Amino acid sequence: MDSALPIPRFFAIILTMTTISPALQTHGRPLASVDPQIAALIKKEEERQETNLELIASENIASLAVRQAMMSVLTDKYAEGYPGRRYYGGCEVVDEVEALAIERVKALYGAEHANVQPHSGASANMAAYMAFLKPGDTIMAMNLAHGGHLTHGSPVNFSGQLYNVVPYGVREDTEVIDYDELRKLAHEHKPKFIVSGATAYPRAIDFETFGKIAEEVGAIHMCDMAHYSGLIAAGVYPSPIPHAHIVTSTTHKSIRGPRGGMILCRQELAKEIDKTVFPGIQGGPLMHIIAAKAVCFHEAAQLEFREYATQVKLNAAAFAAALTAEGFRCVSGGTDSHLILVDLRPFQVTGKATQIILESVNITTNRNSIPFDPEKPFVTSGVRLGTPAITTRGMGMKEMTEIASLIARTLKAREDEAALAQIKREVVELARRFPIHES
Ligand SMILES: Cc1ncc(COP(=O)(O)O)c(C=O)c1O
Repeated sequence: MDSALPIPRFFAIILTMTTISPALQTHGRPLASVDPQIAALIKKEEERQETNLELIASENIASLAVRQAMMSVLTDKYAEGYPGRRYYGGCEVVDEVEALAIERVKALYGAEHANVQPHSGASANMAAYMAFLKPGDTIMAMNLAHGGHLTHGSPVNFSGQLYNVVPYGVREDTEVIDYDELRKLAHEHKPKFIVSGATAYPRAIDFETFGKIAEEVGAIHMCDMAHYSGLIAAGVYPSPIPHAHIVTSTTHKSIRGPRGGMILCRQELAKEIDKTVFPGIQGGPLMHIIAAKAVCFHEAAQLEFREYATQVKLNAAAFAAALTAEGFRCVSGGTDSHLILVDLRPFQVTGKATQIILESVNITTNRNSIPFDPEKPFVTSGVRLGTPAITTRGMGMKEMTEIASLIARTLKAREDEAALAQIKREVVELARRFPIHES
């Protein structure tokens, strides 16, 4: 019997083989058609961002270019290892992407070595510690209640659980880091690491003094510049690079890139850092995020970004002055950066209540302990305010005065629903004057 297929059946089989399977057919369809629920939530969040004043100091608005890199096909690529030394094939393109990100960030900060793979600021800090510390070793870092970050030794974080933490803080009278106490404690405890950097410290940090003290006691000086990274890249905040052995950072705060982390270090520490990031604590790098980091470093090297960062600082200073004029007390008397820590006690209201009431009029903030805070960390006497996101929207010093007044009016009118509704209308109107995404 002839085993050949009849001609029509043969063509039918060829046709099925070349047609995309139903499962793959959804691949080319837009989100709104594949998953209307998530698409609607994203739209809702877009609207929330458009109509709110985002004053959380650690947030910003990534550019379209950064977001386009993040949504690229690079998300599909496994690339364990480093450029030229991967455990997977097909890495020739992502090698170029990562090499570019590394070169750009080194040039931006004048660093000897860069690792752009940490998935977040916390992972960057974990890698830096684990590269050189053993459980039980002593680290010195800023007291959390004075502005330090969770990864600087909080008992609820791995850093506080693995290491012996000696906190340093600010002086009660000036609310500025007490460098004399820092030196005294360093000589007394001989830490292996001295961590500079903070999450709620508005003033310029004297990284040179940190470097000197670390040298005196033979410690590694690690700076976590997460909050200040954009200002440092633009040259409007002191750079830790000449004074620190290791500098860690997030890439999504004032530097305005994708959510992620990075580590810069001196050449002699590079090998330990790299092998701790991978294979030490992470698996495959997020290549789409690394591409977006490269875009962000490119953007941060432009004159336009320097102008932006300068404006962030000018806005923060104007905001602090306007808040003071409204009757608030700014911790340390003001700011040298993008952030302001506000003592709310003159208004007889807690940080927790303030965060909630401000949110009700579309002003987004976060409660924050102030140094020597009589309130518990969940309640607090302060809020932390920052200007990176509203400056990206194009707001200037005039708007800072307007926002300070809106905040003061909100707190004074906190029992008056009609007044709060009126304030909310004004906030939305102000936000709409500075659209994030042109529609
Ligand atoms: C100083 C500092 N370091 C590290 C981090 C942690 O970054 P991530 O949230 O990306 O883990 C933060 C986050 O707020 C921070 O402020």
